[in-house]
Amino acid sequence: MNIDEKIKEKIVLALDVEELDEAKILVDTLYPYVGTFKVGLQLYTKYGNDIINYISNKNSNFFLDVKLHDIPNTVEKASENVVLRGANFFNVHATGGLAMMEAAVRGAKKAAEKLNKKPPVILAVTMLTSISQEVLEDEFEIKTDVSNFAIRLAKLAKKAGMTGVVASSLEARKIKEACGVDFKVLCPGIRPEWSTKDDQKRIATPKFAINEGADYLVIGRAVTKPAEGLTPIDAMKKIYEEIGEI
Ligand code: C5P
Repeated sequence: MNIDEKIKEKIVLALDVEELDEAKILVDTLYPYVGTFKVGLQLYTKYGNDIINYISNKNSNFFLDVKLHDIPNTVEKASENVVLRGANFFNVHATGGLAMMEAAVRGAKKAAEKLNKKPPVILAVTMLTSISQEVLEDEFEIKTDVSNFAIRLAKLAKKAGMTGVVASSLEARKIKEACGVDFKVLCPGIRPEWSTKDDQKRIATPKFAINEGADYLVIGRAVTKPAEGLTPIDAMKKIYEEIGEI
């Protein structure tokens, strides 16, 4: 199969697995199809440096999905350390506010200068895709439409100098309209028709997300725990075929 580099650049594989060996197998088999490997809290809190070094040796982009959310001073220092560790993508929660996001940008820039590297992609998480309208209203008592709330947070992220946001593909188009085409949108909650929904509430197919303007697609269980009868590599190939020409 010919790898379409434009699709590859958009694919962010979520390495949400229990064991280091499982992650290594996924990296080894899927790296030709993956632009960026995302290490989340599940793997990072267990294997920290081991998984970071493994990905770095493969010459792939490395996204440390730490979703920082703390006071600005702490986030600034942590952001600096995340970049010094070798991450060229990382994220913070937009609900940490403007000053916290500005601090993340400052910390990351400082580290990139020290390393003589270009600044990383820093993304703000607007709303977790597992948060539905009901959760927003019933649990948080926020009586705003979930989409409008995400857009409000995206504008704040842009003001802080972030590269873009993590958001549902259902909001991608509106975010581009509100923040401009150069403001990046990374979309989780991606589910091809043939895969299970799991705990995600606001989902979309890869093709739909790209049509809505997604710059990056986070692909997790659809590939790492694929539907019966498929291997991860089969699932990945099916996704490439489904996306087709872009
Ligand atoms: O397996 P699945 O495709 O559902 O994985 C989604 C990935 O995207 C997970 O790593 C999850 O932490 C992340 N994510 C999300 N929703 C957000 C932000 C990140 O699901 N809003």
